[in-house]
Amino acid sequence: MLPDVVPYASMSSPTRPVPARTFQIFQIFHMPYQTLLTSLQDGIFTITVNRPDKMNALNQLVMEEIGAAVQEVYGREEIKSALVTGAGEKAFVAGADIAEFRELSPSEATALSERGQRTLWHIENCPKPFVAAVNGYALGGGCELAMACHFRIASEAARFGQPEVNLGIIPGYGGTQRLTRLAGPGLALQLMMTGEMIGAQEALRAGLVNQVVAPEDLTEACRRILLKIQAKAPLAIRKLVSCVNAALRTGEEGFHTEALAFADCFRTEDAQEGVSAFLEKRKPEFKGK
Ligand code: COA
Repeated sequence: MLPDVVPYASMSSPTRPVPARTFQIFQIFHMPYQTLLTSLQDGIFTITVNRPDKMNALNQLVMEEIGAAVQEVYGREEIKSALVTGAGEKAFVAGADIAEFRELSPSEATALSERGQRTLWHIENCPKPFVAAVNGYALGGGCELAMACHFRIASEAARFGQPEVNLGIIPGYGGTQRLTRLAGPGLALQLMMTGEMIGAQEALRAGLVNQVVAPEDLTEACRRILLKIQAKAPLAIRKLVSCVNAALRTGEEGFHTEALAFADCFRTEDAQEGVSAFLEKRKPEFKGK
């Protein structure tokens, strides 16, 4: 027998154990969330990141709540699949909350990266299908969140990018790894080095998304696929998740390298300059220090 997907509570990522405290506070299901909207219809659990005034940026509370919502998907039998999206018309998620980067020490940056990587690892390894309904900007942590889902459907308005370099830093939630896997090293490096965004059609050509649809058809397109999968044998689906992720596991060390490199960025003057420049709405002046 192939090894099955382990239950959420006892799960550990391939390279590092999950600290027990990370998810223990979320033992009670049907959580009221402050930064997420959730709903369950036809077995599909919709998780909407709900900070539209901040382009749904992922602050630490959002990340904790995403972790708890993912735990609901693992633990609640009536949930058969999950759909992740962003509130409002402009953004899926425009990245980690840059305001929280201002005073981030390197050790805090390592912890932030590892926590985020772990949450997204649980999405990637969830035995129930996760789709990202990318309705707008999917930048930085938003692109990383979308890439951790089993597949992505984009609206024509979606824009993808890993613009961390504009802040003097690099992706920290697995973006260097998953973008390379999905789009190949050439495009991944170009996007991460230039900080440029690509539109939905280019993302489709690059293999970053599976399908592009009109904005008004996005939810229905995702629901159609999830309902189709829900009609299949759940045990076969969970085997597919573990097999496909086993095929990707050879590069697991890369995530650790990324977390260390992400933290190193926070030792630099350039990162301070990049973060301050964004918050002060001006162009950064990088000095290579
Ligand atoms: N973190 C924190 N706040 C963010 C944010 C982020 N990642 N992305 C957007 N916001 C905030 C803006 O600061 C602004 O807040 P304010 O109204 O209090 O000033 C608000 O969301 C709206 O964003 P704004 O930049 O005015 O909208 P826009 O339509 O002109 O541009 C983006 C949209 C997404 C292109 C732009 O906001 C952006 O580049 N965001 C940062 C993307 C990024 O670097 N992500 C990686 C982070 S590691």
